[in-house]
Amino acid sequence: MAIVEVSNLNVQFAGKTAVSAASFAINEGETFSLIGASGCGKSTILRVLAGLQREWSGEIRLLQQNIRPGARFQGDLRRNVQMVFQDPYASLHPNHTIYRTLAEPLAIHREAQIPERVAEALMQVGLPADAAKRYPHQLSGGQRQRVAIARALLLRPKILLLDEPTSALDMSVQAEILNLLNRLKQQSGMTYLLVSHDADVIAHMSDRAAFMAGGAIQHEYDRAALVRGEHRMDAA
Ligand SMILES: Nc1ncnc2c1ncn2[C@@H]1O[C@H](COP(=O)(O)OP(=O)(O)O)[C@@H](O)[C@H]1O
Ligand SMILES: [Mg+2]
Repeated sequence: MAIVEVSNLNVQFAGKTAVSAASFAINEGETFSLIGASGCGKSTILRVLAGLQREWSGEIRLLQQNIRPGARFQGDLRRNVQMVFQDPYASLHPNHTIYRTLAEPLAIHREAQIPERVAEALMQVGLPADAAKRYPHQLSGGQRQRVAIARALLLRPKILLLDEPTSALDMSVQAEILNLLNRLKQQSGMTYLLVSHDADVIAHMSDRAAFMAGGAIQHEYDRAALVRGEHRMDAA
């Protein structure tokens, strides 16, 4: 069953087309990836699906619910669609402890047992309990990305939007984070929409991938094509 359905999505910035007639669907539990050169519109699609980019046209259904341009995501929708950004340092508040960073979304959604939930989230992403007391600058890049993933998972979303989640990390740390993401997905049955420019990452993670150029989806690769490496020319 499709959990993300995008049809004929268009996004313009000051009259310039960033996304052009993009259509794709993602089934529940799948990892679907977007590949293509810098500037082709990948992040813009993720920002639309996260409710961060509200000016667009076309048709979007998330979790069987129609989304309208201009709408703020609220309630279940807001909880169920979470995003992890490329640069974990920029996405964490420098003056907030990890505890505060993780407790805040729970408090906003009026969740109970916040200290327990924060401890559980840290454990899920393989961080020690005392990481809660630290500030972002006291953690490594990989640990910071684990915090960003923990924050995204706190509200137990159904859809995780991952925008180059390992591009800012060292090679060895990249593999750890990707394995963590795959393990979390197996445990929870989440659906992933992943952006990466790394052909190995795409092949390792994805059930299907779409290649974009100039804001438009050019073609899709199924799992067999990804295993054969047919996407490698595109994923530069
Ligand atoms: N907030 C914005 N304002 C103006 N132009 C933007 C904005 N965000 C993205 N763009 C432009 O839209 C196009 C697609 O950008 P983006 O989605 O970030 O590409 P990608 O993630 O594939 O590198 C680019 O030409 C970019 O310069
Ligand atoms: Mg981008």
